[in-house]
Amino acid sequence: MKGLILCGGLGTRLFPLTKITNKHLLPVYGKPMVYYPLATLVEAGIKDIMIVTGGNNAGDFLRLLGNGREFGLKHLNYTFQEKEGGIAEAVGLAQHFVGDDKVAIILGDNILEGSIKGAVDAFENQEKGGKVFLKEVEDPSQYGVAEIEGEKIVGIVEKPEKPESNFAVIGVYLYDNAVFDIIKNLTPSKRGELEITDVNNAYIQKGQMTYEVFKGWWGDAGASIDALFLANKHIREGEISSP
Ligand code: DAU
Repeated sequence: MKGLILCGGLGTRLFPLTKITNKHLLPVYGKPMVYYPLATLVEAGIKDIMIVTGGNNAGDFLRLLGNGREFGLKHLNYTFQEKEGGIAEAVGLAQHFVGDDKVAIILGDNILEGSIKGAVDAFENQEKGGKVFLKEVEDPSQYGVAEIEGEKIVGIVEKPEKPESNFAVIGVYLYDNAVFDIIKNLTPSKRGELEITDVNNAYIQKGQMTYEVFKGWWGDAGASIDALFLANKHIREGEISSP
């Protein structure tokens, strides 16, 4: 399985911190933010990884991460997203890299305490489709929110005013190769982006989406200044082991 870390976008919710650098290079306690999702993929046994970045500071990722030696990797791949066309657009840029393989995607601002290795291993044996990870949160309205019926996930709504549940969809997605055909058929949302939630709903409509509730701590460090502060605090307090 190939791995993708998405580090494009403008990071406007963290202005002015992101005026002169990329959000994923900001510190989360002792490490740049991107270290955490990279460590999560490597721990899950994924070694073939591409970083999708964009904006004025793309070169800094190469200076920071090089070939990923600090993470025990021999090589890292990079690609450049020219505009902020959405998470799904960023995934589409990696088609040539993923080839005929499956792909594990993590958003570059998502910090996970705990392993996804079990789910990644199980997904290798899932014949087709996708898998998302959910986390119960107090205020899900700033995330994709899952609607669940029994054991099944029946829909996801992006940042709903009135959430159907408290289960946020976290920024880790496992897909088979059909994801690239799904992305080609997407149309931009009201905010002008190709939405990952539309990709997930396409898999749900095909009856090919599974989910897992993530047991560890999860933070979307790029969601707001408060979320960034909380991620720093959480790691500072040692509840998550620094990579
Ligand atoms: O963190 C989980 C949430 O992430 C999910 O619950 C939502 O369903 C999902 O849409 C996403 O919401 P956000 O509003 O947090 O997405 P954001 O625009 O912050 O983008 C998340 C990451 O994706 C960000 O770290 C950079 C990358 N990205 C984003 C855009 C818009 C790109 O690489 N390219 C892009 O064009």
